[in-house]
Amino acid sequence: MLTTAKARGLADLPPVQSDSLLQLIALCNADQRAEKIDVGVGVFRDGQGRTPILQVMKQAEAILRETQESKAYLGSAGDKRFAELLRPIVLGEHADDERIAGLQTPGGCGALRLGFELIATANPRARVLVGAPTWPNHPPIINAVRLEIAEYPYYEKGQGSIRFESMMHGLSSAQAGDVALLHGCCHNPTGADLDEAQWREVARVVCERRLIPFIDIAYQGFGRGLEEDGVGVRMMLAACEEVIVAQSCDKNFSCYRDRVGSLFVKTGSAEATATAMAHVSQRAREMWSMPPDHGAACARIILDDAQLHADWLVELAAMRDRINAVRQRLASADPRLAFIGRQFGMFSMLPLAKEQVLKLREDEAIYMADSGRFNVVGMSDAQIDRFTTCVVAALDG
Ligand code: LMR
Repeated sequence: MLTTAKARGLADLPPVQSDSLLQLIALCNADQRAEKIDVGVGVFRDGQGRTPILQVMKQAEAILRETQESKAYLGSAGDKRFAELLRPIVLGEHADDERIAGLQTPGGCGALRLGFELIATANPRARVLVGAPTWPNHPPIINAVRLEIAEYPYYEKGQGSIRFESMMHGLSSAQAGDVALLHGCCHNPTGADLDEAQWREVARVVCERRLIPFIDIAYQGFGRGLEEDGVGVRMMLAACEEVIVAQSCDKNFSCYRDRVGSLFVKTGSAEATATAMAHVSQRAREMWSMPPDHGAACARIILDDAQLHADWLVELAAMRDRINAVRQRLASADPRLAFIGRQFGMFSMLPLAKEQVLKLREDEAIYMADSGRFNVVGMSDAQIDRFTTCVVAALDG
C-alpha cells in the first residue's frame, strides 16, 4: 500500500540558534539608554567612541574612483596583486616560497570556510582541534563542512592565563592528518597570546604529530606590532610542510563591512599547491563566485604605494597604541584586572559568571558577551571609569 509522505516546505524548518555576537549587536542597538557601553562586538573605536575610516583608506578610495576603468569580473581569486602584496606582511621570510599560494577572500570568514572546505575535500576524516574557548563562529564554520571537532584546553578564565601544559597534552594526543586551529595573535576571545617559546613548542608538537596547523590571523598589528604578531605563522611555516593561513584585513585596515581577507596554503611542492588552489578556486566559485572588490582594491593601492604604505603603518600603530593604553588603564584599576595588561589585541575575558554579565547588561547598560569577553576599545575614554567601577563592583559580588 502506498503511503503519502507528508510534504515538507519552508514552514517545516526547525528554529535556529542564531550567532551569539550578532544577537548581542542587535540587543545593544535596541537599548535606548544614553549611558550604554558597547563592549560586545570586536570593532576598534577611538577615544571618542567612533570607528573612523582610516585616512589612507579615504585616499585610496579617491585614487580608485579616479583610476578604475572597469568593474568587469576578476575571477574567483579576486585581486591577485592584493594577495601578492600581503605575502611579506603575513608570511615574512617565507614570502618567496613557491610552495605557498594565496588568494583574496570575502573577509577572514571566507578564508576560514575555504580552508576547511579544502581540508574536508582532502581528508573528510580529519578532526579539527579547537582551543577552548575560541571565537564562537569557528565551530559553525567547521560543522558546515562536516569535519569533527575535538577541543583542547586553552585558557583558565579565573587565572587569566593560558593552560599551556593541557594544550600541549591535547595536541599530542591528535592523529596524523588532524588539524590544529590556532589564533595567530590577539586571541579572540581571551587576549591571551602564546609567547615565542610557546609557539616553538607548539610548532614542535604539531610537526612531530604530523598535524596540519590552520592559523586564523585576523588582528595582525593590533598586539605587539605587525612583524611581531606574525611570529607564530612564520614558525609554523618553518616547521611544517602543510600549513593553512586565514587572514583578515577587516580590522587592521578598519574596513570591516567591505569584507577583505585572504587565504594562504602551503603544501610539500609547488605542484601540489597548484592542485590545492584549483580546489580552493572551485569551492569559491560554488559559494560566492568572486570576492567583493572594493576594499581589497583599496588595500592593494595602499600597500603598492610607499607613502600610503608608511602612512597606513602609522595609523595602525595609533590603533594599537590606544588598545594597549586602555589595557594598562583597566589593569591598574584593580589587582584582579591586572591580567588585562599582560594580554594583546581587542579582547579580554572577565572572570564573571553569565548571571553577572546579564546583570551588568540589565542594570548598567554594559554590553559584553555572555562569556565575559569584552572589547577593551569598545568604550570611549569617557566611559572607562564607569566601566571599571561597575566591573569591580560585579567582581566584589
Ligand atoms: C568579533 O569576534 O566580535 C568579531 O570577529 C566580529 C565577528 O564577526 O564576530
